[in-house]
Amino acid sequence: MSGGRADYSDIAQVYDAARPSDSPHLEWWFEKIAEAGQLGPGKRLIDLGCGTGRWTLPLAERTGCEAVGVDNSVEMLGKAREKDAENRVTWIEGDVEYLDVVEKENFDCALMSLMMHHVYDHLTTFRGVYRILRFGGVFLIRQGTLEQILNDAAHRFFPETVSIDLARTPLRCQIEGWLRRAGFEEVRAELVRQTSYPSNERLLTELRLRVCSALRMISDEAFEAGLQRAEEYVAEHPEDESLRQDLFTLFSARKPA
Ligand SMILES: C[S@@+](CC[C@H](N)C(=O)[O-])C[C@H]1O[C@@H](n2cnc3c(N)ncnc32)[C@H](O)[C@@H]1O
Repeated sequence: MSGGRADYSDIAQVYDAARPSDSPHLEWWFEKIAEAGQLGPGKRLIDLGCGTGRWTLPLAERTGCEAVGVDNSVEMLGKAREKDAENRVTWIEGDVEYLDVVEKENFDCALMSLMMHHVYDHLTTFRGVYRILRFGGVFLIRQGTLEQILNDAAHRFFPETVSIDLARTPLRCQIEGWLRRAGFEEVRAELVRQTSYPSNERLLTELRLRVCSALRMISDEAFEAGLQRAEEYVAEHPEDESLRQDLFTLFSARKPA
């Protein structure tokens, strides 16, 4: 299980359990993304690396936009389809780094949530996103950047994950640079701090499920040792809210009209 790329075929079985719908900040994110992406009836959204569709489907239902979800994991897409009983969203198996198969100038908004650490060639990928957006379209990136994640619970208790993210997760300034080089204008970055879980016990549940992809890339021994560190810490500091605080950045950028 250690090394290489994260395998979402297993993660799919537990992903939604660990990214719970009881997160106190979910409503905030839905509104924020809908507003920043100017989503509404007649608008077209593409969610790149949509996973189980936890943003795609609610955004389509709430705003009335047409939505397409793209992911390269059959298992993650399977979970998304299960939730979409009314076929509200078009789900496509595909690689976000090869968007040349998607018709150009076809979407008003592209979303990438928690994807930057899975992309190899960001500049080429961002150029692909630029191509499929309509003129005036918006690209939204929801991500914990490298400087924002290194002190979170996963990295704190599982130090083997640090080198993994140093190698794969970009800094804020890198993402901004790639956006500009791809041709985007009005590049903005909003910093968001949120308490992701209602209790430290809830955080432990997520850690035990090993949903964070870096936790799938360390050895089983390193994972067990880290889990024990986390459990001991929570037993001693059940009220330490800093453990449950996550930092994100919402990037927005516009293709010139
Ligand atoms: C951390 S999950 C994020 C899922 C969703 N966007 C969210 O915020 O919950 C990352 C997703 O990206 C997908 N993925 C990784 N690399 C990809 C690629 N090159 N093309 C398409 N999907 C990819 C994985 O299968 C997984 O579903």
